[in-house]
Amino acid sequence: MTCKKILVTGGSGFIGSHLVDALIEQGYDTYIYDIKDPVYHNSYRYIQGDVLNLPLLIKETEGVDAIYHLAAEANVNFYHNAPRESTILNTIGTINVLEAARVNGIQRVLFASTEWVYQGAKELLVNEETQLYPNAPDHIYTSSKLASELYLINYQKLYGVDYTIIRFGIPFGERARPQTVTPIFISKALKNEKITVDGDENNFRQFIYVKDLVNGCIACLKEEGKNHIFNINGMEKIRIVDIITTLEKIMGRRIEYEIHRERAGNYTGRIVQIEKAKQLLGWEPQDRYEDALRHYYMWYIENENKV
Ligand SMILES: NC(=O)c1ccc[n+]([C@@H]2O[C@H](COP(=O)([O-])OP(=O)(O)OC[C@H]3O[C@@H](n4cnc5c(N)ncnc54)[C@H](O)[C@@H]3O)[C@@H](O)[C@H]2O)c1
Repeated sequence: MTCKKILVTGGSGFIGSHLVDALIEQGYDTYIYDIKDPVYHNSYRYIQGDVLNLPLLIKETEGVDAIYHLAAEANVNFYHNAPRESTILNTIGTINVLEAARVNGIQRVLFASTEWVYQGAKELLVNEETQLYPNAPDHIYTSSKLASELYLINYQKLYGVDYTIIRFGIPFGERARPQTVTPIFISKALKNEKITVDGDENNFRQFIYVKDLVNGCIACLKEEGKNHIFNINGMEKIRIVDIITTLEKIMGRRIEYEIHRERAGNYTGRIVQIEKAKQLLGWEPQDRYEDALRHYYMWYIENENKV
């Protein structure tokens, strides 16, 4: 597909802002559509808009070739506390983006899903073919992402709107939301406060450096990415306590921590395979976990007062 003009919903957020930077760097004519002003550059082309405002979304996506849809309630704890409002945002927001794409004949909608969709899977080793139903996920956030995935598939079948579903691994890196695990641990370690690990100490994720994640998102734009689902994830299996031990190496000292109770609806981790993205898109993560954490740590200490 010849794609020039791209709109990123949620482009002012953590992942969205990196995606916008990378798209601009690769020469795409890139626009942010977000309720929040972008804070990382003042040269961004920005539309202040709500994904729940369908007429505005239709107006602003006229002439756009592809939409990356990232705007959502991404914080699972906020989601837990406000399930109705969050579900309206995450599901109706997706329907609105699909409607705008349908009305304006947009070539592709690329959707930010999550590895949490594997929460109900019976297997430990999962890929895009893994059967997700009828095992219900444990978190309503996950249900909103699964519902959105189904809407994308429905819109393709019913109205010919092409899609790519991108199941993000758990990202970390520069600009990470302060409520996420890595900045929380770094902040506590710097203040010599004891870290609390919520949940079983063997819980793990394949954390992905945000720059690797957004390169994976851009690879999904390729023709080979059309009407497919991709896992875009890290390769290393990192237990939550491994974040602490890696930080100990980087900081050169011991960090105190304790294991706490299970978090409601927590995702206990699966081994997510990324072979499909490697084979079809030629993408794989470039940064080893420890190196990426070191980059982020250096950035964090320089920008500590700004995050
Ligand atoms: N960070 C993660 O761990 C993670 C993992 C997997 C998937 N995801 C998904 O990736 C996407 C981006 O996540 P993030 O971590 O960058 O979150 P974020 O909260 O930093 O960014 C979300 C952006 O959406 C915007 N937004 C919220 N409501 C909006 C509305 N009504 N209209 C327009 N914009 C609105 C926010 O202002 C924000 O800039 C989300 O869809 C999230 O579910 C995130």
